[in-house]
Amino acid sequence: MSYIKIQDVYKKYKVGDTVVVANNGISFSIEKGEFVVILGPSGAGKSTILNILGGMESCDSGEIIVDELAISTFNNKQLTKYRRDDVGFVFQFYNLVQNLTAKENVELATRITKNALDVDQTLELVGLDHRKDNFPSQLSGGEQQRVSIARAVAKNPKLLLCDEPTGALDYNTGKQVLQTLQDTCRKMGTTVIVITHNSAIAQMADRVIKINDAKVRSVEVNKNPIPIENIEW
Ligand SMILES: Nc1ncnc2c1ncn2[C@@H]1O[C@H](COP(=O)(O)OP(=O)(O)O)[C@@H](O)[C@H]1O
Ligand SMILES: [Mg+2]
Repeated sequence: MSYIKIQDVYKKYKVGDTVVVANNGISFSIEKGEFVVILGPSGAGKSTILNILGGMESCDSGEIIVDELAISTFNNKQLTKYRRDDVGFVFQFYNLVQNLTAKENVELATRITKNALDVDQTLELVGLDHRKDNFPSQLSGGEQQRVSIARAVAKNPKLLLCDEPTGALDYNTGKQVLQTLQDTCRKMGTTVIVITHNSAIAQMADRVIKINDAKVRSVEVNKNPIPIENIEW
């Protein structure tokens, strides 16, 4: 049995009189410790399935299993615990608390979780130990995103879910952030899922899941992922 199993997930949204089918029977599996890229154009249904996997949204039907936990059967209380202890999120916009330092932003997240890592060590992992007393406004976009990665990683989650984490960053900064995510995956053994619409990034992944028009179109396992520094686009 796979570490993560998503089976036949359906999700529709009603907006006024129209119904949008965001996930139309999505199925895929992921193994523990993989670096996974979910690839697809805007509107394909990528964020929807990631939010369902992260316990932020419920599906209309289907099954989601994470490390033998049947997330799709969880009640609200169980989902809250799952989000706190098992899932780290990284978003396109870093959502840092502006009047807290980098270190305090990370500490805040570790207070609500049970398996927290050492905050200083986590900031070192993302290469920001020398900036930990700075406020978000004193950091570049890439540095702020690395704080948000540290904040997610410090919870020592089973899953690190990243929705277009380089969407607001320039080319080189985006590469550094992807490198940080891959280092986290390799060093911590965390299962990392990154959503992108940049197909070049797929080469660095162990597994590439292509989603288009609310369905999975292909899943490829990459035996020899390429380091991000060797990928150009
Ligand atoms: N909360 C929502 N309410 C209404 N429609 C939504 C909502 N979230 C997503 N959608 C719609 O579902 C479809 C898939 O969205 P999404 O999963 O965000 O795609 P992607 O992340 O691939 O761009 C889109 O048509 C989007 O407009
Ligand atoms: Mg999206």
